[in-house]
Amino acid sequence: MEVLMGSVYALVLGGWVCFGLLKWNGMRYNRRGLPPGTMGWPFFGETTEFLKQGPDFMKNKRARFGSVFKSHILGSPTIVSMDPELNRYILLNEGKGLVPGYPQSTLDILGKSNIAAVRGSDHKRIRGSFLSLVNLSMLKDWLLPRIDKYMRLHLNNLDSKTIDIQKLTANMALFIAFKQMMETESSSSYEAFKAEFDKLMVGSLSLPINIPGTNYYGGFMGRKRVLRILREIIEKRRDSLMKHDDILDYLLKDEDSRYKLNDDEILDQVIMILYSGFETISTTSMMAIKYLHDHPTALQELRDEHFAIRGRKKPEEPIEWNDYKTMSFSRAVTFETLRLATVVNGVLRKTTEEMELNGFVIPRGWRIYVYTREINYNPFLYPEPLKFNPWRWLDKSMESQNYCFLFGGGSRLCPGKELGIVIISTFLHYFVTQYRWEEVGGEKILKFPRVEAPNGLHVRVSKYQD
Ligand code: HEM
Repeated sequence: MEVLMGSVYALVLGGWVCFGLLKWNGMRYNRRGLPPGTMGWPFFGETTEFLKQGPDFMKNKRARFGSVFKSHILGSPTIVSMDPELNRYILLNEGKGLVPGYPQSTLDILGKSNIAAVRGSDHKRIRGSFLSLVNLSMLKDWLLPRIDKYMRLHLNNLDSKTIDIQKLTANMALFIAFKQMMETESSSSYEAFKAEFDKLMVGSLSLPINIPGTNYYGGFMGRKRVLRILREIIEKRRDSLMKHDDILDYLLKDEDSRYKLNDDEILDQVIMILYSGFETISTTSMMAIKYLHDHPTALQELRDEHFAIRGRKKPEEPIEWNDYKTMSFSRAVTFETLRLATVVNGVLRKTTEEMELNGFVIPRGWRIYVYTREINYNPFLYPEPLKFNPWRWLDKSMESQNYCFLFGGGSRLCPGKELGIVIISTFLHYFVTQYRWEEVGGEKILKFPRVEAPNGLHVRVSKYQD
């Protein structure tokens, strides 16, 4: 009996302590004018629930508090906006003090000059340099021929094999980006680079705890080694008279003085180019293969588009810009995959001063999660939103409608958008014209907080014969 009473007291006491902590934490952030919401536990906030429940966490909160609410996630007090109009306003108004608000771990590991960390004139200069590397004439004359060459190499020889598409697309995205950046570097230096870069990527989305064994620590060490490898390559290039026709040489030659970058900025720019395209391109390519596998009519239409191109060419002839311009169904498949899989859930901003948004007062320095995921499933914008229907994107006005944030918006609109679509379309071209594939194992795919197949996505590949 006493034992039982003791347990009851402990439970009641425990309950009171928990209640007290939750209440205290809620009161700490209970300022006049803030949106409604709960702040969870001291320090941890509601991060665990957010990561565990994902989109349902957001939907439940919206049902309780409306489309704009406060919470405490990923280490800081955060306003979540699920309001399409407000999201658009935030993305279009960086100049009014709504600047990128990525976590400290991301900024530490990607470097203080990375494009997401800079603002104002520095952002204009670094973005200008970036755009000069991926503009239309670079894409047509320089990038596409290389993407074609390395895509063939990467997708060569898959016949009669069982492969993990997740691994294949991840390696493809990094290999193609590396070759554009440093074409003449050997495959052994690519392998050494890749091992360190993988650590850097894992560390960039981690809790900033700098002790050996943590992802953050590993990412930081990865960054150090990546920088060492890059510095050695740059020194070698400066000491020799040899010309290298690649992006790194272009950055080092620095012919366009409007976007002059110092050495540290060049290093961060190289890391950012490799980093920013990597996950989006690999997961979109993987999910496109998944959706096409499950939708034979769409796959057939895609194959027809690519066989029409091959029919005009000899087998060894590369894809040219005019061919790419005819790939409207591939473009539609890319957009529909980005929408349905929600490769990008949203973007992070923070306030540089106290400001009023939608009638609420947001304190200075608060993070805003511009959560765009639900817009992708809005039945007014996308009838039958859960259906994979690439045809909806053949209406070109869909890409430019006000609430299409698949590539962000405003002054931070993705500068690699067209490059990304070119890479994914080239991948689809060589994959669907050379192979057919069957899934083995029907593996699980997680869609939140990032799209991934925890055990891989295995397919059995065979040569395509009509
Ligand atoms: C399917 C492919 C891609 C998707 C879905 C995508 C998506 C996005 C989104 C949503 C943003 C906005 C981030 C924000 O507002 O904070 C963004 C920014 C950015 N993206 Fe992409 N991206 C893709 C491919 C690429 C590629 C291939 C590159 C470069 C090689 C790239 C480079 C960048 C850079 C540098 C920024 C930052 C721009 C700035 O802050 O001014 N992206 N991307």
